Amino acid sequence: MTHGASLTPAVARKSESLNGTVRIPGDKSISHRSFMLGGLASGRTRITGLLEGEDVLATGRAMQAMGARIVKQDDTWIIDGVGNGLLLEPEAPLDFGNAGTGVRLTMGLVGTYAFEATFIGDESLSRRPMGRVLDPLRQMGVQVNAAEGDRLPVTLRGPDLAVPIRYRVPMASAQVKSAVLLAGLNAPGTTTVIEPVMTRDHTEKMLAGFGAELSVDTGAGGVRTIVLAGQGKLAGQVIDVPGDPSSTAFPLVAALLVPGSRVTIENVLMNPTRTGLVTTLLEMGADIGIVNQRSAGGEDVADLVVGASELKGVRVPAERAPSMIDEYPVLAIAASFAEGETVMEGLGELRVKESDRLSAVAEGLRRNGVDCDEGRDSLRVRGVPGGAGLGAVAEDAVVTTHLDHRIAMAFLVMGLAAEKPVSVDDSAIIATSFPEFMDMMTGLGATIEPVRKAA
Ligand code: S3P
Repeated sequence: MTHGASLTPAVARKSESLNGTVRIPGDKSISHRSFMLGGLASGRTRITGLLEGEDVLATGRAMQAMGARIVKQDDTWIIDGVGNGLLLEPEAPLDFGNAGTGVRLTMGLVGTYAFEATFIGDESLSRRPMGRVLDPLRQMGVQVNAAEGDRLPVTLRGPDLAVPIRYRVPMASAQVKSAVLLAGLNAPGTTTVIEPVMTRDHTEKMLAGFGAELSVDTGAGGVRTIVLAGQGKLAGQVIDVPGDPSSTAFPLVAALLVPGSRVTIENVLMNPTRTGLVTTLLEMGADIGIVNQRSAGGEDVADLVVGASELKGVRVPAERAPSMIDEYPVLAIAASFAEGETVMEGLGELRVKESDRLSAVAEGLRRNGVDCDEGRDSLRVRGVPGGAGLGAVAEDAVVTTHLDHRIAMAFLVMGLAAEKPVSVDDSAIIATSFPEFMDMMTGLGATIEPVRKAA
């Protein structure tokens, strides 16, 4: 089933101040990897704080289809893994729905097995390029059958013995880095990944936590060399997943933009590869207190105390993009209310997300009265402090979300502070990453409602 069949339009309206304390659901990246590594490792893994979004649950079902036992008892997910090298051939295609991380990492994980596995997804995922993980898998000896342009559906068959490779990741992508490392788990000898620009490092950290033999060396100019010994033993772990900074971004920006707001967001992952948005908002003059900083399960975690703020435009350098790659849609909303111009550079990767996010954001901004320029890999936004005149430029000006959860959430946040309402064509897709979004936002005082369709 695709979401196309059941679009749920929604509208957000200018709201009174947002107030309260919220706890953001678990990080999506860490949740996917918890199911994957837990399902692969020998013995039992216990996970609390897991994100129960559709994307992550699809990864759980894929691991079950390959032999992992997964049950939920009270608040804890309990996984009995198969043991490294011992995944079973799935009997049916693995359906990853909307999830790029799920499908790309799992292709790495099972691509090197000497059996056949087929990968499918929704309309959005079927448009996205898979060549970036299929190329290194081909080098490892994997046979690939893909739709035109290396797109889904994809069928992989690994060789009897995979070839370990040395691979330089050609774009800043944690998914590609991770897929190669996971493929290396089932190859003899050492797999080396060279990462010229650092991206989120959850795979490296979690592999080490599960007992893989892995080293990371950072050389001149920050180039990282990650070396993994294949065919080692992985052992089940206890994992407490911290709150997702990418989901945090929505109530955070909403609290900054809606006058009089004060919101505390608890248990937010503050891994430095994920904090680019907070850095940028602080530069824009945001009132964000980072309190109760602590370390939990090998990750930095903190609570954020956010007060409504008058923001000013800034230049966001291209080098920062990997640490806030999923946050540009909502940053563009913050920029729409800032004084002056905000310039965002190095956004090429946004074109291959759940939608072409660069054009989806620019188009949505224009439909809501924001003056902006979409470049090849940049975005300029000229803000209106106070939001006077912002919001739907015409009654039928609805933001097209293109099956992209972050486009939907970003524009609903815009509507809370704009003078006129902001409508999106679908809010159902939000369940892929943040099923609690609507209840959490309305609980803080936001006015967001489904749009009743005419009969
Ligand atoms: C992710 C990596 C990023 C990010 C995605 C999650 C991950 O994708 O956009 O939401 O968990 O590894 P890319 O690797 O395509 O940059």
